[in-house]
Amino acid sequence: MAARTPFVAGNWKMNLLLADAVALAEGLMPLVASSAGVEIAVCPTYTTLHAVGKALAGSNIQLGAQNAYVKESGAYTGEISPRMLMDVGCSWTIIGHSERRHILGEDDAFLNEKTRFALASGLNVMFCIGELLEERKSGAMNAVLERQLTRGLDGLDAELARVVVAYEPVWAIGTGETATPDQAEEAHVFVRSVIASMFGEAAAAAIRIQYGGSVKPDNAAELISRENVDGFLVGGAALKADSFAAIVNACAQ
Ligand code: 13P
Repeated sequence: MAARTPFVAGNWKMNLLLADAVALAEGLMPLVASSAGVEIAVCPTYTTLHAVGKALAGSNIQLGAQNAYVKESGAYTGEISPRMLMDVGCSWTIIGHSERRHILGEDDAFLNEKTRFALASGLNVMFCIGELLEERKSGAMNAVLERQLTRGLDGLDAELARVVVAYEPVWAIGTGETATPDQAEEAHVFVRSVIASMFGEAAAAAIRIQYGGSVKPDNAAELISRENVDGFLVGGAALKADSFAAIVNACAQ
């Protein structure tokens, strides 16, 4: 196990109405209350953030958002600012999830702007990257990951310490097809090498790289045993308290 503290976050995506979201948070707390040596967060929908944050108060589970806009306030209909997210208790936001890149059309330059603004506002960022199946098959995987990192994290300096990279191969998201531990480790080693070339060896050794894509209780232990896998960003399995807790506890030390 690497010296970096594993970080396991649940991305609830566009799921759960208010009562179910609060019930999930309440169900999760006792199951991970004594999980040591692991950092934990959940990222509910905007409409449930406040209530889930209140439910989690005083627990060892941090609150995160799934997205954040690049302005503090103003005439940006439908958007939410980092400051608003912090106001309801968020310490994290996800930026660059593949569903926003591919369904909502967010590009590298916009994601860089979002990352920089969220960090400057005081949020920590889980910055997501990952290749499509065609890109992996055609041998373009490393070029894609390098482009997403160099453009997405361009211009950062000391704030990199508040960034976690989430490697989420798009072909593994919601498909039940998980990257093998070897595939995850290989990608994470490459990500760390790109971070080293951008920010230096010390920053590369310190940054945490989560794996995401069909993480389940039965594959988490083997994945986390790899040197460069520093936790998980979990979708479907984060929607049930017992399966998310089992993933968290596979990373506890
Ligand atoms: P699944 O765990 O459902 O594959 O989703 C992964 C993901 O996209 C987390 O952000």
